[in-house]
Amino acid sequence: MTKAFRTLDDMGEIRGRRVLVREDLNVPMADGHITDDTRLRATLATIGELADRGAIVLILAHFGRPKGQRDPSMSLAPLTAPYSRVLGRPVRFVDWDGAADAVATLRPGDIAVLENTRFFAGEETNDPATIDRFAALGDLYVNDAFSAAHRAHASTEGLAHRLPAFAGRAMEAELDALEKALGDPSHPVAAVVGGAKVSSKLAVLEHLVGLVDHLIIGGGMANTFLAARGVNVGKSLCEHDLAATAEDILATADRAGCTVHLPYDVVVAKEFRADPPTRIVNVYEVAADEMILDIGPAAVESLADVLKNCRTLVWNGPLGAFETPPFDTATVALARTAAALTQDGSLVSVAGGGDTVAALNQAGVAADFTFVSTAGGAFLEWMEGRDLPGVAALKR
Ligand code: 3PG
Repeated sequence: MTKAFRTLDDMGEIRGRRVLVREDLNVPMADGHITDDTRLRATLATIGELADRGAIVLILAHFGRPKGQRDPSMSLAPLTAPYSRVLGRPVRFVDWDGAADAVATLRPGDIAVLENTRFFAGEETNDPATIDRFAALGDLYVNDAFSAAHRAHASTEGLAHRLPAFAGRAMEAELDALEKALGDPSHPVAAVVGGAKVSSKLAVLEHLVGLVDHLIIGGGMANTFLAARGVNVGKSLCEHDLAATAEDILATADRAGCTVHLPYDVVVAKEFRADPPTRIVNVYEVAADEMILDIGPAAVESLADVLKNCRTLVWNGPLGAFETPPFDTATVALARTAAALTQDGSLVSVAGGGDTVAALNQAGVAADFTFVSTAGGAFLEWMEGRDLPGVAALKR
């Protein structure tokens, strides 16, 4: 089947050709150490293949938000050694000063990481002079960084119009999975949308109610919907000023034939800390001095039944305050159900977003989902139904 975008399969002979590859090396660091190397590992397929095919591989990436300044604390140089260990191949670092001379010394199969693209102000403004500067170093362009594709920057968007452009393997896998999840999914489709605030996911909710058959709302967001329905949520996190918006979403869902699932039992506590005294109550029994911190076991059981009847699941955001035990219980239980259904072959499950990935890892099921996206902002924008500039620029 012809894909909507060109991939590494369409590149032809690339031995000795300089390929600029946009990757997302924006990994979390603490005390100079990488705390999660998932994004580095995600680049393996593309970088390995290009190097094996004899290309001169030049990696473009940003790190942090230096805002056009050459800030040494955001240099990609210190990342080169750990990255080389992850790839299991030598990796050179190339600074912007003298970049052309350094690149000219590289041989087929060599891999180099260029300095932080955001050291140029023209990166974020997608400035033609910056695009030229990057383009002068390469013959071909590969975008493998879905998680940065919501940015219309020189290295994520502009270059795709300047050089022959292709989607890398990670980008390709991501786009294929997202297409299966919301583009052209098997119905019934369920979406789990959790997290603290309705305000940060309004556009997601508004988009999904017109697309999915079941919308499962969890986390602090559910409290806002419950309150809009007249439930007294006590001291719970709740955006009372969004009551009318919540009502509108429920009404739109109703018209679209989308069933919205709000919890009817919840786990409450008087203090938010690990392992405080808790009660499981009907949502109408939350006391004035209590907080809802997770959805209850009866709700989880009925949501599991919903998933059993669905063919597709897209998941963003935890159902409770999952970083603090025992308020991870519902998220872990429903994630395990989704993972088991996926492994049985009855469900296509796609999840994304920083918190979501952490929650699935905590449940030990990330590998059992059909696809887990490491993208944060880009995944959310995709769930909002927006065209991502970096993806749009790759379309044939
Ligand atoms: C991310 O970490 O989500 C991506 O690398 C994009 O980073 P940004 O939000 O700084 O553009």
